[in-house]
Amino acid sequence: MIKQPIGIFDSGYGGLTILKDMVETLPQYDYLYLGDNARAPYGTKDFQTVYEYTLQSVKWFFDQGCSLVILACNTASAKALRTIQQNDLPNIDINKRVLGVIRPTSEIIGTFSKTKHIGVLGTSGTVQSNSYVIEIAKFFPDIKVTQEASPEWVALVETNQCESPEADHYVQMHISQLLKKDSEIDTILLGCTHYPLLINTIQQYTPTNISIISQGKIIANSLQEYLNRHPQIEYNCSKNGSRDFFTTGDPVDFNNHASLFYGEQIAANQVVLP
Ligand code: DGL
Repeated sequence: MIKQPIGIFDSGYGGLTILKDMVETLPQYDYLYLGDNARAPYGTKDFQTVYEYTLQSVKWFFDQGCSLVILACNTASAKALRTIQQNDLPNIDINKRVLGVIRPTSEIIGTFSKTKHIGVLGTSGTVQSNSYVIEIAKFFPDIKVTQEASPEWVALVETNQCESPEADHYVQMHISQLLKKDSEIDTILLGCTHYPLLINTIQQYTPTNISIISQGKIIANSLQEYLNRHPQIEYNCSKNGSRDFFTTGDPVDFNNHASLFYGEQIAANQVVLP
């Protein structure tokens, strides 16, 4: 088998915040990034649509030769991952792997909380799926999880309004609504890959005794452990330190905007999905 890059998928820009931490933790691997910017946001779309779009993207990675694809998108992980793993992969290729971000985050998030009250902020799709409530309960049955959908936050990030009166308004609104639902929360999980871009505003409206947790480092560490546990999959990953970026949207827009998420200049190519 020819060694191939690790595929990183997101509905748009958000997965770049995850990729950034992966590259920092595991710089030796090659990474292929695809953002489905033309069809984002996923957070407001129904189950079937998110599943179909995600499956098309996963197949595109497989066509590029990737054996391992990470859905670096909470909404896709919540709505498409299980069906792809259980129904599609056995028919496509049993040697391919698709992983998500909800399970690895749920495995560790409980260790951050002393009060055993955790708040999860995510898209409407992620919150409605209840995935975090279900998954965290498997690892930390005594922890109370309270969710708050913050759908406007993705749009604020996608339209470059992280520091704006609108960002102040919607961040303050959702943080206070979350804390009103459960005043004992001492840990807030940013359960959407876009949200770390709003961290300054989020910190401004969150009491200082509450920890705010982003997923990047968690997912990067979990990938490292996964590759240690699966030497055959690790063996199939190419290691030249290359990063290639693709978008279904306009590559010029992508390049202009992506550096905000990734921290350095990107030169993306366009891809057309069926
Ligand atoms: N990247 C998605 C997530 O982590 C949010 C963006 C969207 O709604 O497409 O949930």
